[in-house]
Amino acid sequence: MTDKELVLKAIEAMKNSYSPYSDFKVGAALLSESGKVFTGCNIENVAFGPSICAERVAFFKAISDGENCFSKIAVIGGKAGVISSATPPCGVCRQVMREFCSDDFEILIVKENNEYDKVFLKDLLPYSFKPEILSK
Ligand code: THU
Repeated sequence: MTDKELVLKAIEAMKNSYSPYSDFKVGAALLSESGKVFTGCNIENVAFGPSICAERVAFFKAISDGENCFSKIAVIGGKAGVISSATPPCGVCRQVMREFCSDDFEILIVKENNEYDKVFLKDLLPYSFKPEILSK
């Protein structure tokens, strides 16, 4: 699975976004180390609190299917599904990534024209509170 193929999967996932309140559609495609792709979209709720981001949907689908080793995730989003700028993962999603991924986990943040920035988790969530801290 190339980076570009993973980006296309995230674009497909974005089409399923349920976002009637923000109209901001987000898609994510998570690649496991075994080569499987788990997609997610944001799913909002009238009570707002129960809403969830695309990235966490992808992670929770994967974890509940027994996958727990991941290499990268592609994330794309935009108002009404139109991509005008990057959608960097929110802080809660970064912390969820840190639960299951190491510092060198790659995040492909898609911008206009399917171009993307590739960043490492260690740069998105430096000095993180991580599982290793509790196991000491
Ligand atoms: N959203 C995501 O799905 N992922 C992010 O990392 C940022 C925000 C969603 C949540 C909400 O449904 C909408 O985008 C607007 O905040």
